[in-house]
Amino acid sequence: MASTEQHRSLPCFVFLLLTLLSQFHLGEGDDLQLDYYSQSCPKAEDIIKQEVTNLYDKHGNTAVSWVRNLFHDCMVKSCDASLLLETVGGIQSEKASQRSFGMRNFKYINTIKSALEKECPPTVSCADIVALSAREGVVMLGGPQIQMKTGRRDSKESYAVVVEDYLPNHNDSISLVLSRFQSIGIDAEGTVAILGAHSVGRVHCINLVDRLYPTVDPSLDPEYADYLKGRCPTPNPDRTAVLYARNDRETPMILDNMYYKNLLGHKGLLIVDQQLTSDPTTSPFVQQFAADNGYFHDQFAKAVLLLSENNPLTGDQGEIRKDCRFVN
Ligand code: HEM
Ligand SMILES: *[C@@H]1O[C@H](CO)[C@@H](O)[C@H](O)[C@H]1NC(C)=O
Repeated sequence: MASTEQHRSLPCFVFLLLTLLSQFHLGEGDDLQLDYYSQSCPKAEDIIKQEVTNLYDKHGNTAVSWVRNLFHDCMVKSCDASLLLETVGGIQSEKASQRSFGMRNFKYINTIKSALEKECPPTVSCADIVALSAREGVVMLGGPQIQMKTGRRDSKESYAVVVEDYLPNHNDSISLVLSRFQSIGIDAEGTVAILGAHSVGRVHCINLVDRLYPTVDPSLDPEYADYLKGRCPTPNPDRTAVLYARNDRETPMILDNMYYKNLLGHKGLLIVDQQLTSDPTTSPFVQQFAADNGYFHDQFAKAVLLLSENNPLTGDQGEIRKDCRFVN
């Protein structure tokens, strides 16, 4: 009696199990694969690497932009190239939003996309270009190799209206910053590691003047504050002005642990940067990364991988854009 009942419930159980498994499968980064384009466009990853290298040789700061693009695209909902869309029909794009201030080199995304379209149109998503260009950009800047999966698809809209709900600001509290990263699976150590991206690039005066005027933030090294005042001589910089300071004066174009050494020397550029040393949750990691570049690179690679797998569109979601600036 018991055994017939077991037999009868078996198909039901298998069905339930499959349903459960498919639920877990959907909506997870698991739908991404290593070398997703191996059949459909076998040269895709090589082409992206080649284009990123060529662009870096001509305009070194493109590599820096690819790294920031990953943050601004993946943090807002999904790694779906929504960042790359232009403002169309009066609907403001993420790219044009206040939070994207200072972002540059978008036009060279088209260079990478064109090379891919020549080889295999229209197969490789703009979202995968965002991810893989960041990966190669990190390598160009002397950072670690990161094994990234592919298969992301492109969004059909830009989410400018919600950008501020996802992207932390330069003066946000450490607890807010930690919770934003926690919500995409990056823990406190990963958050400290991923902010090491601020070892490269620049910050415009608009994001710095609050720390300099009317009084200098006491957590700033006085000599460094003088340097910053020299770079940003007025308390009200014009939004269109190009005045800026480098993130890291020592090794501005190398993705290394100098960022953490600077923080320990009270030479953190943004409030979010400097706060990493004063908060008891984050400061031990600052010490560890400052002492060991290899360890920093390992943790940076892990955190970037998590960021790159945030909630991708896969399967029949979204589309493969022909031009990264516009939906098809
Ligand atoms: C709490 C989180 C973060 C905040 C508040 C933040 C904020 C900022 C700000 C205000 C700038 C300067 C923009 C300008 O004035 O031109 C900047 C630059 C930059 N950020 Fe972040 N960021 C954060 C996390 C990240 C992450 C996770 C990455 C990459 C993994 C990243 C990569 C960069 C890069 C590469 C630059 C330099 C861009 C350039 O020189 O063109 N940031 N960030
Ligand atoms: C953070 O800076 C922005 C300008 O970049 C300013 O509007 C905002 O009031 C500041 N927030 C805090 C908490 O100081």
